[in-house]
Amino acid sequence: MANSNQSEWDSNIAFILAMIGSAVGLGNIWRFPNVLYSHGGGSFMIPYIVSLFLLGISFVLVEYAVGYRFKSSLIKVLYSVKSKLEPVAWFIALIVFLITTYYICVVGWDLIYVVLSFTKAWGSNPDLFFSSIVLQSTDSIEGLLHIVPMVFISVLALWAVAWYIIQKDLNDGIGKVSKLLLPLLLIIVVTIVLFSLTLPGASIGYTQIFTPDWSALTDLNVWLAAFGQIVFSLSLGMSIALTYASYLPEGSKLTDNALIVAFSNSGFEIFNSIGIFSILGFMTLNTGIPFDQLVTEGTGLAFVVFPKVFNIMGPWATIIGPLFFLCILFAGVTSVMALLEVVCYSISEKFNFSRRKSATIVCIIGFIVSVIFTTSAGSMILGIFDAFLNNIALLFAVLLECIIFGWIYNFDNLIETLNNNSNIKVGKVWKNVIKFILPICIC
Ligand code: PFF
Repeated sequence: MANSNQSEWDSNIAFILAMIGSAVGLGNIWRFPNVLYSHGGGSFMIPYIVSLFLLGISFVLVEYAVGYRFKSSLIKVLYSVKSKLEPVAWFIALIVFLITTYYICVVGWDLIYVVLSFTKAWGSNPDLFFSSIVLQSTDSIEGLLHIVPMVFISVLALWAVAWYIIQKDLNDGIGKVSKLLLPLLLIIVVTIVLFSLTLPGASIGYTQIFTPDWSALTDLNVWLAAFGQIVFSLSLGMSIALTYASYLPEGSKLTDNALIVAFSNSGFEIFNSIGIFSILGFMTLNTGIPFDQLVTEGTGLAFVVFPKVFNIMGPWATIIGPLFFLCILFAGVTSVMALLEVVCYSISEKFNFSRRKSATIVCIIGFIVSVIFTTSAGSMILGIFDAFLNNIALLFAVLLECIIFGWIYNFDNLIETLNNNSNIKVGKVWKNVIKFILPICIC
């Protein structure tokens, strides 16, 4: 089944760092704190940990076992399982491609803020600055197609960087960048969190997250939110894990790797949220703005609330501000690499294109689609794309993979693949989770 032109990771650590990079992204930094806060605070950890094991790790193991066994992209895998299933793989590749086109635009907004943060160039009204200068939102129909030059340039720059990384050999590109950015990301996050704990008012923030609301545990929505966070945060259903695992050399310990990646990803988001909450506690103490009004998510948190915080932070803001936006940038870039690799690998394998050729085609078309999001109507269209792709299409992709590998493919082969090499063995429970529990939870 192995593909003779197959790239291979030069070390297990390259694989682990690339996998952690694919998972750690915007979702960890600006989605998790809000989900945690609004779903029971400390008690959210219970559904979160249950979802991590039952759904997250179980599903990642399927993708690892399949990628490692077939040594090819999802396209070829599904074709081998049943040729009629190939369109399902292309459907998933299309979702991944579309997500990349807008995800890169959000990272582009962040790149602008990296530059602005050195001088706090967003001024005294970050709200207005974000909507009228960065997004240039407008109500006029003629104005909607106006391209915002600075967003266009930063998106173009990111596509060029992404192309440069992806067209290189696996280890020279994704491998090297992951080995550089992941340690940097860790240093930045540790610096921000330690600094945030010294701020007056920090305890207003971090005590709130660790104060449990036990009644939340009986609320089904809390369990669904935990499930949703794990799907988003571990980038499930996008065949990233399958693609990266297909580059693993013989003898790799799949289960051990999956546990390291999943724990690192969750550890990152929990640790990072201590920093976010401490900083928001500082803001509450200094401005009197109620804490729950500050705990927003996404762009509102990063590009409106945080610039406001940096405006009152004093001289430290010129260090912590750029570090905060760099953190989002590095986390975003490593996720973009993984998303793109899925699409490029599918195309190069199917059409027998070189890595460079498929990267060039995908990046040019991707950039053209991304231009839509750099217009004044961009953030509105992006919101619609995001709601559909993340809430519906991703879950649907996870469901399809569970059905295909749990029911159509002989699942015992996957158990054998995992147990052959790993210290931790899996068995019937895992099979039942994939065949029954996961599909039921999704439906
Ligand atoms: N897991 C990454 C994040 O949390 O941002 C990457 C990612 C997840 C990208 C989901 C895109 C996506 F739809």
